[in-house]
Amino acid sequence: DWTMSSLIDETVARVRAQVGSRRVLCALSGGVDSSVAAALVHRAVGEQLTAVFVDHGLLRQGEAAAVMASLKDGLGIQVVRIDAADRFLARLRGVSDPEQKRKIIGEEFIRVFEDASTRLGPFDFLVQGTLYTDVIESGTATAATIKSHHNVGGLPEDMRFTLIEPLRELFKDEVRALGEALGLPRELVWRQPFPGPGLAIRIIGEVTPDKLAIVRASDAILREEIARAGLDREIWQYFTVLTGIRSVGVMGDERTYAHTIAVRAVQSQEGMTADWARIPYDVLARISTRIVNEVPGVNRVVYDITTKPPATIEWE
Ligand code: XMP
Repeated sequence: DWTMSSLIDETVARVRAQVGSRRVLCALSGGVDSSVAAALVHRAVGEQLTAVFVDHGLLRQGEAAAVMASLKDGLGIQVVRIDAADRFLARLRGVSDPEQKRKIIGEEFIRVFEDASTRLGPFDFLVQGTLYTDVIESGTATAATIKSHHNVGGLPEDMRFTLIEPLRELFKDEVRALGEALGLPRELVWRQPFPGPGLAIRIIGEVTPDKLAIVRASDAILREEIARAGLDREIWQYFTVLTGIRSVGVMGDERTYAHTIAVRAVQSQEGMTADWARIPYDVLARISTRIVNEVPGVNRVVYDITTKPPATIEWE
C-alpha cells in the first residue's frame, strides 16, 4: 500500500545517503525485528551489507534453516551463519540458575559476534532492529528487573559502530507489514515472540543435548497441532517446557519413570500481562497423545493454567 511503499522509499534513501560506499554489519537472531531491519538495509545498500547469524543451538526445530532460506536464498542477503552450538553448550554445562544462563548466553553471543565482525570487517555501521516500544521502555525500569531480558542484539559499548536503526519509529504491527512488503515469508513475519536465550530457558535446570532434543521435539509437535487447528495466528505465544520433574507412568506392562512436559500457551498484548489460552480440549488431547507417543523420555504432559501476574510467561 501507499504508506508502506513511501516509508520504504524514504528509509532506503536515508540509509543510502548515510552509508555512502561504506560497509554495514548486522546481527540476525531469527526474530522478526532483526530480519526486517536487515531486509530494509539490504534494499538500500545491497552487497555492502553483511549479516551475521549466530546459531547458538538453542533455536526451535527448523528455525535456523528457515532464516537462511528466507534471507539468504529468498532475498539474496549475504548471510554468514556461525554454528556456535558447541561453544554455548560447553559454557552452559553445569549451570542451572536462570539468570546465570541468560548472562552466559548474552556474553557468549557478544564474543562470537565480535570474532565474526573482526574476521569479516572492517565495518562502519551496525544495524539494530530497535522498535519504538524499545525506545520508550529503555530508561524506565520495567520487566527487566524481574528477568534480565538479554536480547541477542545487545552489544557492548566498545564496539564502535555508527548505529542504523531503521525501525525506531515503528510499532510491531507496522514492522510486520513492512516485512511482508519487503518480501519476507509470512511464517517469519508473523512469528510468535521467542526469547533471545531460546530453549535454554525452557529447560528447568541444566541444559544438556538430550534435554534440548526433548524440548525441541515436543515444541515442534505443539506448533504443528496448533497450526493444524488453525490457532497459530490466534494465540500470542505457545511453547513447551521441560519441567525437570520425573513421574511414574506405565507403558505396556512396564513401569516408566520419565520426564514431564508442560504446555504453555498465552494471550497477551505486549507480554506484560497474560492469560492462559483456552485451547479446545480435543486439540489439547492430540498434543498430549502425540508428545508422549513420539518423544522418547516423556510420559506425562500438563497444561499451565496460570495468568501473568503472578506467574510469568516463560518458566525461567
Ligand atoms: P516473561 O516470561 O517475563 O516474558 O513473562 C515476557 C515476554 O518476554 C519474552 N522473554 C524474553 N525475551 N530475552 C528475550 O528476548 C529474554 O531473556 C526473555 N525472557 C522472556 C517471553 O518469551 C515473553 O514473550
